Amino acid sequence: MKPRSAVPSDHPALLSLWQRTPGIRIRPEDALQPFTDYLARNPGLSLLVEAQGRPVACLMAGHDGRRGYLQHLVVDEAYRGRGLAKALLNETLARLARLGIHKSHVFVLRDAPQALAFWQAQEGWERRDDIEVYSMQGHPP
Ligand SMILES: CC(C)(COP(=O)(O)OP(=O)(O)OC[C@H]1O[C@@H](n2cnc3c(N)ncnc32)[C@H](O)[C@@H]1OP(=O)(O)O)[C@@H](O)C(=O)NCCC(=O)NCCS
Repeated sequence: MKPRSAVPSDHPALLSLWQRTPGIRIRPEDALQPFTDYLARNPGLSLLVEAQGRPVACLMAGHDGRRGYLQHLVVDEAYRGRGLAKALLNETLARLARLGIHKSHVFVLRDAPQALAFWQAQEGWERRDDIEVYSMQGHPP
């Protein structure tokens, strides 16, 4: 069960994995075209693990030239506790490091206790209390 790079044709199966996973919010950017664009912009950084011919774990990642950004770390319920999330994380961070990206961020919803517990437990990952996130949709006229 080795991670491989995601490709556009994985989209339906990944969308289905995200949709059946409580705690994962699907956004317009998860549609096929933005997903395809994201993979093209960040080649080889979004990974999945397959079992019985379908994705059972995934992690999307990209970078802005300075920092890496991780999204949608998901392992199907039946495959949890086998180190798949860790394998995906390690492989993604290694691939980012090969591109010169040595620091990455992940945004975790405050109302996702399981996700928070996971990140809290990961060695080397520091919860930030010196940063507030501001987001803007669209642009001023
Ligand atoms: C969180 C999630 C990805 C973990 O996947 P997983 O494959 O079971 O995790 P792993 O088996 O690789 O666990 C890696 C380590 O994290 C620990 N861990 C796993 N889930 C944990 C949790 N919910 N809370 C605390 N620690 C956890 C494991 O004990 C393991 O520790 P170790 O390295 O000391 O052995 C999975 O439960 C999931 O998909 N949850 C729903 C989606 C989600 O919340 N994703 C995170 C969004 S940012």
